[in-house]
Amino acid sequence: MLEHGGGLRAAAQRYGIALKDWLDLSTGVNPQGWPVPAVPASVWQRLPETDDGLETAAVDYYGTRQGLPTAGSQAAIQTLPLLREPGRVGVLNPSYAEHAHAWRQAGHQVELLAVDELEAALARLDVLVLVNPNNPTGARFAPETLLDWRARLAMRGGWLVVDEAFMDATPQDSLAVHAGLPGLIVLRSLGKFFGLAGARVGFTLAESTLRDRLCDHLGPWTVNGPGRWVAMQALKDQAWQAAMRTRLDQAGSRLADLLKRHRLPVAGGTVLFQWIPLPDAAFWQDALARRGILVRRFTDPPGLRFGLPGAESDWRRLELALAGVRAERLR
Ligand SMILES: Cc1ncc(COP(=O)(O)O)c(C=O)c1O
Repeated sequence: MLEHGGGLRAAAQRYGIALKDWLDLSTGVNPQGWPVPAVPASVWQRLPETDDGLETAAVDYYGTRQGLPTAGSQAAIQTLPLLREPGRVGVLNPSYAEHAHAWRQAGHQVELLAVDELEAALARLDVLVLVNPNNPTGARFAPETLLDWRARLAMRGGWLVVDEAFMDATPQDSLAVHAGLPGLIVLRSLGKFFGLAGARVGFTLAESTLRDRLCDHLGPWTVNGPGRWVAMQALKDQAWQAAMRTRLDQAGSRLADLLKRHRLPVAGGTVLFQWIPLPDAAFWQDALARRGILVRRFTDPPGLRFGLPGAESDWRRLELALAGVRAERLR
């Protein structure tokens, strides 16, 4: 099992701090996500139906008819490698570790590649997998570059898999509208911008033959009824989406500024998290956890990822904790 953010219960036990007293900044999930109303009993009781309006809402939101809902983008991440004969797969590194793990598990030969190694590696790859914008570094790829890479891979029957889990705040950079081009697979998630990580809903945007094979593999009712219901309404709520983009723009800059003010070397990020390469990341993670603040630590390269605080009191708490840890470091 790979490590993920959000392991609050384990942290609570390890540090002897009650669950309710933690500030969890260990994920890239929006702390002020789409406000979920009460789910009607019938949504729990009936089998999910594919003509309930979710797919239509997704057409409008993503700007393409080529979407298949899955139980989080994770379901697609795990299944896509099973749809090809074992081959050579390049995966951006550092990045969301589930990609490399899933392709390896399925018997593919995985090459971990830094941003500046991707282009040169294309000629020897069957599949290239990257996250745009990248988690945790925030690295971004221009749509034209990706479309060029897609064309070069597709000429040989190859795939370009673009995980856009963190793209909702910048839809103009998405490849979603190009879904349907041969070999292009775009993954989207309702878990980050919409803050609906527990609902387990994502979309795979790709040409119909590939969607059909994926759908076949996943079987019926892969997304549960309440998940479909909540995702449909969130995708339709354009007023909330527009307001949230503005709000997150401000919050993202505020977090970067706060971390920089405490002399942490912020190297990139998105509106939902900031990335700090840091040789003494283990010390900082532990010192923050002793203060009841959970952040995500990466080891290769060593660094910390800070998610967004939500309430004003959370911002103040983070600010105080950063000052405290800095003072402790200097002692
Ligand atoms: C880059 C990236 N892709 C995909 C996922 C999986 O998201 P979900 O399965 O909730 O859609 C995550 C979760 O952390 C992620 O960071």
